[in-house]
Amino acid sequence: MDKILIQGGRRLEGEVAVSGSKNAALPILISALLTAEPCYYQGIPDLVDIHTALKLLSGLGVRVKKEGDSTVAVGQFMLQADHVHKLEAPYDLVKTMRASFLVMGPLLGRFGAARVSTPGGCAIGTRPVNLHLKGLAEMGASIDLVHGYMEAKAKRLRGAKIYLDLPSVGATENLMMAASLAEGTTVIENAAKEPEIEELATVLNKMGAKIHGAGSNIVKIEGVDELHGVSHRVIPDRIEAGSFMVAAALTRGDVRILGARPDHLDAFLLKLKEAGVALTIGADEIRVKGDGKAKSVDITTLPYPGFPTDLQAQMMVLMSVSEGVSVITETIFENRFMHAQELVRMGADIRLEGNRAIVKGVDGLSGAPVMATDLRASVSLVLAGLVAKGKTEITRVYHLDRGYEHIERKLSALGADIQRIKG
Ligand code: UD1
Repeated sequence: MDKILIQGGRRLEGEVAVSGSKNAALPILISALLTAEPCYYQGIPDLVDIHTALKLLSGLGVRVKKEGDSTVAVGQFMLQADHVHKLEAPYDLVKTMRASFLVMGPLLGRFGAARVSTPGGCAIGTRPVNLHLKGLAEMGASIDLVHGYMEAKAKRLRGAKIYLDLPSVGATENLMMAASLAEGTTVIENAAKEPEIEELATVLNKMGAKIHGAGSNIVKIEGVDELHGVSHRVIPDRIEAGSFMVAAALTRGDVRILGARPDHLDAFLLKLKEAGVALTIGADEIRVKGDGKAKSVDITTLPYPGFPTDLQAQMMVLMSVSEGVSVITETIFENRFMHAQELVRMGADIRLEGNRAIVKGVDGLSGAPVMATDLRASVSLVLAGLVAKGKTEITRVYHLDRGYEHIERKLSALGADIQRIKG
């Protein structure tokens, strides 16, 4: 297993380009199942989760072509679901990446059947899929749990009014895809409003779907008989952008984050400003100048447009070396503080009380061997390593590779002393 070694204390300076959004790319790739026509995508990041999605789709019979093939341009992917011969997502892939569950809606919508493994446990909480299933059942699917697999059938899904008890991102996406090919109109109430939802709706509408209201809490989908091919470039990754911003602020650096979409990062940018971090915001770039110590601020994670849970761990690192005391409340996932104990090993002063972390700013962190436990926790350890005195060695970095494209290359180019030791 690979490790990451960081010699902390370097100030980051320069420019870094944000990659395409992982969380937007995953449902978009999966939406290719909804048509037999070729779909072309640009800006798909080179990440382990993307490789998992492509493996899943290839296993179903989707043809995947990458650059290097004469029909595909540089930086492009082509997916064509014209020979789908299997309607099953196996356990080994769904347990590796829960977003695999998103094939349920499109398979059911287009082929009338799907057999998808239940995801099982997850490091950051139980993460059930009950809302995905409830919505599909309301659209007329019969769903049974058989030997750990959800087996769903429906001659043709029909439009329905669905209320989500929680604004689940995955459930909203799964149901939007299923409803696109259903008979009649579906209304999803209390839908998730994340930019990735709007992005998926844009792609589906380009394919011929009729989706209105995506990005608000009521999404209306008029079912159509078929969808068509599409060409689309995915939006930049707001969480990667936010992670680099924290890196710049922490190292008191000066970094221009190119391609970052400020309109997708409102709550996060306001919190950074409140913490005293100097930001210059352009249309599609953000410059972060971290002069001096940040001020402690309280943070509560919430569904979009609230503060994103996927930036909570990174902010905890900044708060660990800020002036004052910060209370961080996690409301989305039940067990998303596993990075806290590792940060404490590096000298942070963090006390956990249920879903709250009380973070008292200290003068500095010190490098230590630490272990990554999930995707965002792993990047928080990288950030801590950048600002810590001495050497930090991070193990289990496969979590990091699920969601951060070429992170050590990007950070090195900004002046960090970071290297990967191949295991
Ligand atoms: C997506 C993101 C993830 C992000 C999360 C919240 C992807 C691939 N992943 O995950 O990075 O952290 O949104 O912004 O886009 N829930 C239920 N029942 C359900 C579905 C969800 O109770 O059927 C609960 C979950 O346990 C969790 C909360 O709802 O506590 C939010 O989950 P959800 O919005 O579905 O997150 P994901 O789509 O899994």
